[in-house]
Formats: sequence, structure tokens, C-alpha cells
Amino acid sequence: MKTIVVYKSKTGFARKYAEWIAYELGADLFDASEVSVATLAEYDSIVYGGGLYAVGINGVGLITKNLDRLAGKRIAIFGTGASTASDKVFTEVRDKNFTPAQLEKIRFFYLRGGFDFTRLPWYLKPPMAIMRWGLKQKKERTAEEQGLLDSFDAPVDFTSKENIEELVAYIRS
Ligand SMILES: Cc1cc2nc3c(=O)[nH]c(=O)nc-3n(C[C@H](O)[C@H](O)[C@H](O)COP(=O)(O)O)c2cc1C
Repeated sequence: MKTIVVYKSKTGFARKYAEWIAYELGADLFDASEVSVATLAEYDSIVYGGGLYAVGINGVGLITKNLDRLAGKRIAIFGTGASTASDKVFTEVRDKNFTPAQLEKIRFFYLRGGFDFTRLPWYLKPPMAIMRWGLKQKKERTAEEQGLLDSFDAPVDFTSKENIEELVAYIRS
């Protein structure tokens, strides 16, 4: 069975998961900018992963806009964000990115990534600096907000190989 793993990553977290998954599955690995739907169509199974930006999975349209052309393939999509993995986060991200009809054709996974302000592209630094300022002004912060605030000073990485196990098993099954 031929498997392709495709990722779109701004600061390296989706890429790291994609590399682990491709290694585990013996799959071909590509940056999303290098592949077309025609390339995807050559494979039996497809794994797509992207970082989360305002709950959207970076570049996921490559898959969701082309599901008709990818009919019959096993498709796993992962989103990687700084948020702690929970049912709430999983459901929110899934429902923001996919319709119920699309969810019949793909399987979604949330894999916790991290946050690295230093590696953000220049155009994302000003909005994040504003968010940081807003967090600093708050008198009370949730643990999640405090964690995000702290991560501006020191990058955090919550990636773990264990997190890919369910996705890898799904593709193998
Ligand atoms: C502008 C911006 C928006 C973000 N939005 C979210 C979000 O909605 N949910 C989340 O969990 N993480 C969010 N993050 C954190 C990233 O998703 C996280 O750092 C991710 O691991 C990045 O993956 P990448 O480096 O592969 O692009 C955001 C980060 C930035 C800079």
C-alpha cells in the first residue's frame, strides 16, 4: 500500500509530526507546496497535517476541496496546535474545518504541538505581540493563558511520538 504524508508548517511542529509518521509508515514525505492533487491521486493512503491558526488547519483545502478526486482513499488529517489536547479542542477544531459529509471521507486527529515565537514568519509577529500584551494586562489568567504567555519567553514543545500512534494504526488498519 502506497502512502503519502504531506504537511504545511510555519514553525516546524507539523513538519516534525509528518516526519515521524512518514518514517513509521515507510511513506513518501512532501511539503504541501511540492504536491498537486494529481500527485495525491497516485497513492492509496494520504496523511495531511498542518499547524492551527485561529482554529483553522493550515492548507487543509488541498484535501477538503479535492475529496471527489480522492474518493476511495484512506485519508487521515492532523492539526497541531499549542492547546492542550481535550475533547473540547478536538471537537472545536474538527467542526470548524470539516462538514459532516467530509468527515465521512476523512479521519481527523489533533496532535499537540507547541509554540515558538522566534520562528514565526514576520507577518505573524505583530498580532501575536498584541495578544501577548493583552494577556499581560489580564489580572487573572487560566493555566492555558499563563502557559501561552510564558512561552513567548521560552519556546515550548509538547510533541510526542506517542501522539502519532492512533493515526499510524488507522492508516495501517
Ligand atoms: C496567529 C496564531 C494563531 C494560532 N492559533 C492557534 C489555535 O487556534 N489553536 C491552537 O491550539 N494553537 C494556535 N496557535 C499555535 C500554533 O498552532 C502552534 O504553534 C503550532 O504547533 C504551529 O504549527 P506549525 O509550526 O507546524 O505551523 C496559533 C499560533 C499563531 C502564531
